[in-house]
Amino acid sequence: MCGIVGYIGSKSIESVLLVGLQKLEYRGYDSAGMAVLNGDELVTRKAVGKIAELEKLLKSSPLIGNAGIAHTRWATHGEPSTINAHPHLNNQKDIAVVHNGIFENYAKLRAELVDDGYVFVSETDTEVAPHLMDKYMHEGFSSEEAFVRMLKRLEGQYALAAISEKAERKIFFARKGSPLIIARGNNEYLLASDIPAVVPIAHEAIYLENDQWGYITPAGVTIFNGNGEKVEPAWQAVSLSVEDVDKGDFEYLMLKEIYEQPDVFERVLKTRLDDTFIHFPELKFNKDYLARIGRILIQACGTSLNAGMIGRMYLEQFAHISAETDYSSEWRYRNPLASGDSLVVGISQSGETADTLAGVREAKAKFMRVLSFLNNVNSTMARESDALIELMAGTEIGVASTKAFTAQVLNLLFFSLYVGSIKWLLPAEERRELLDEIRALPDKMRQILKSHERIKEIAEFLKDKNDTIFLGRTYNYPSALEGALKLKEISYIHASGYAGGEFKHGPLALVSDNVPVVIIAPQGDIRAKMISNLKEAQSRKGTIISIITEGDEEIKKESDFYIEIPKCAESLSPLLVAVPLQLLAYYTAIARGCDVDRPRNLAKSVTVE
Ligand code: M6R
Repeated sequence: MCGIVGYIGSKSIESVLLVGLQKLEYRGYDSAGMAVLNGDELVTRKAVGKIAELEKLLKSSPLIGNAGIAHTRWATHGEPSTINAHPHLNNQKDIAVVHNGIFENYAKLRAELVDDGYVFVSETDTEVAPHLMDKYMHEGFSSEEAFVRMLKRLEGQYALAAISEKAERKIFFARKGSPLIIARGNNEYLLASDIPAVVPIAHEAIYLENDQWGYITPAGVTIFNGNGEKVEPAWQAVSLSVEDVDKGDFEYLMLKEIYEQPDVFERVLKTRLDDTFIHFPELKFNKDYLARIGRILIQACGTSLNAGMIGRMYLEQFAHISAETDYSSEWRYRNPLASGDSLVVGISQSGETADTLAGVREAKAKFMRVLSFLNNVNSTMARESDALIELMAGTEIGVASTKAFTAQVLNLLFFSLYVGSIKWLLPAEERRELLDEIRALPDKMRQILKSHERIKEIAEFLKDKNDTIFLGRTYNYPSALEGALKLKEISYIHASGYAGGEFKHGPLALVSDNVPVVIIAPQGDIRAKMISNLKEAQSRKGTIISIITEGDEEIKKESDFYIEIPKCAESLSPLLVAVPLQLLAYYTAIARGCDVDRPRNLAKSVTVE
């Protein structure tokens, strides 16, 4: 949801800011812009569309200077246009501001500033910020005092950065709700919404806390807390490498991340599992508490909720804990009931999703304990939860979540087994067999990845369709939801996932010879019921694409297309089924000429409600 970058140093300002923006493009790509101080002159460039458009503009009108800020936008207030692109300026064009978040009181501030004679050129909420700073500077305050006064007037959530001709070589910054990091390289300082933007240069970074603000200069960083007290910078080593945030030899980051899944699984297995025991070194809850949990409420959004729905089944089956799931945006507003033995589980790749974070805060307000499953352990959710479990998926940048999803499911599985083992629920033999099967998952995923040519053929067929249906039951009902979500978000083909049993209660009416039906039917208790679904769709002329366990000749014969996954326990099948569903969405989107890593209207990290 918008990305911001700032840089002070001796490297080419244009290149550093552009590379930073490219690494943040997953946060939005409706427009991009840059403002640079060259001596005491402020110069701005803006372009509508992806960062490549700004890059083109900079080729014909380059920027030089040694302090600058830049922005990539996911539009909230005002359509994507050059006027609405950041940085936003005051009327004299000597103050520039970039902003990620929403100023909730902008309408009131705007009216007040218009009364004062300020002229607004954009429809954005952000534009109030440079005018406010300007107003306080005209009242005689220094740029620093004016910045602080401006912050005090802004309500809502934000990460922002500002530069002014009157504060040469100083970049002001503030964080309230939206993420912001400060980083340093060799005699150079940066700020950014996320760590990938600084990786090429920085070796150390500070993750700002809420309400912190300050400035960077060529000499260093100064940070204050919300009470105006100086804060000692807490530098941490940047452990990511350029390769971690680069697409390498893959055409798209999404494909790279799909192929990384076996390695992610091996990493999680190495940390969580020894010969017989499951470990959660980072989990702050003790075993007595875990054994006493009576009810778990899982709240998350999008793909993370789909993972949570599979997790719910694991918690019930392996930990004997009653669990429920809900969209965070619904959960927090439906006045959820709190009881002493309830635990709220938040699941999020980014740890910055506004709805999920609001759910965490709602739980805390009701004195409920919160455990979060997070990929980004430096995120706001990590700080605000009582305990966390690290997904260990590695940086995920592709807007369509892939490796974070399977890592969420795997960690939920381990957590359920861990709690189950504290309660001595699983017979030793059964437990050993299941753990052996889990250990075999990375190789089974690698085997599925080899079937990409077959999946490409199915994608060629799917690419001309307008509607698709995904069906699954029990463990694979969430897989159907996730398969449909993946397909629609990157290929723009309408796709809906349903529980197989619900098919005949309405969705069956949609089936025709032009509506393919994806039947998820691995071996297990519900396979026979999925065959009934297949028949229902087939007799209405639906084209059948089935996902089956290898060697399932009966379903193969009935299917127009099929994809095989290796044999595995039914409870583990969603972990394997996810891979062909991701590849199917990916290759269909490619066949339709879509920009897979930058799907229209979306952003990776949804930091507004
Ligand atoms: O960072 P989070 O896991 O909290 O994000 C939640 C959703 O926004 C995310 O999963 C979204 O649905 C993905 N684009 C799906 O691929």
